[in-house]
Amino acid sequence: MKVLNFGSLNVDYVYQMESILIPGETQASKERNVFSGGKGLNQSIALAKAGIPVYHAGMIGEGGEILLETCRENGVNTKFIRKIDAPSGHTMIQVDKNGQNCILLFGGSNRMITREFVDEVLGEFEKGDIILLQNEINELDYIIDKAYEKGMMIILNPSPYDSALDACDLSRVSLFLVNEIEGFQITGEKEPEKILEKIKTLYPHAKIVLTLGGDGSVYQDETGIYHQGIFKVKAVDTTAAGDTFTGYFISSILDGMPVQEGLELAAKASAIAVSRPGATASIPLREEVEKIKL
Ligand code: RIB
Repeated sequence: MKVLNFGSLNVDYVYQMESILIPGETQASKERNVFSGGKGLNQSIALAKAGIPVYHAGMIGEGGEILLETCRENGVNTKFIRKIDAPSGHTMIQVDKNGQNCILLFGGSNRMITREFVDEVLGEFEKGDIILLQNEINELDYIIDKAYEKGMMIILNPSPYDSALDACDLSRVSLFLVNEIEGFQITGEKEPEKILEKIKTLYPHAKIVLTLGGDGSVYQDETGIYHQGIFKVKAVDTTAAGDTFTGYFISSILDGMPVQEGLELAAKASAIAVSRPGATASIPLREEVEKIKL
């Protein structure tokens, strides 16, 4: 069984700010750092750091060499990362003194996925293989349909949520990883219990992990519901905390861990990520997550 993550790769320009800008405001930043990021790349690295062999498929462009390098350094299989003649995806991330962020995203090469490329990549996978997706690349609906036709297990983190997801047949998804906002956007419900109930009605065979910020996370499948709190740490930068959770929780499933232990592992890994700056740079190795006392 192989694991493929078809997703974005971004160069993150991270600015330390006193506070996040309001419309019309100009403010000098205290520091700027450049990190490898992108929800796709972060989740591949979280999987790899958790000990899961993963193929990443995606497009980089001009200025994106650092992204390929980061994947290689962290043991992600880069066979399906292509370089094209276009600007790479990038972000401008403001982080305030409490570690909260806001992200301006430029899709660049991430939005230049072709159907030929999708067919070429999926041609190397088969029934029973796993595909992980987020919503920072184009052709998501096509990828879901083709992966489903092949009998791959589809895991979706529909983030950031936008109208491209309306074109996707979400009944083909086996596992959703969503936060409360995405949960609301999919179901129209605000209360966590109602989000879970509605997902069950809409997609009766899907499993779901609903992350609730400071209130932890909830997992629901056909057998029941499991809750997990957060591990409190001093927040330095919340970027990629969700991606770390996603990668680690998926790794726990692939390792055959009981759900409650998997949620705890993922919560610990994301707490460590929150306590450090950057996206991929903040994601801990499995050994560290297992040893740390929080
Ligand atoms: O989830 C965090 C990621 O979202 C950042 O690395 C940034 O690239 C944006 O895509």
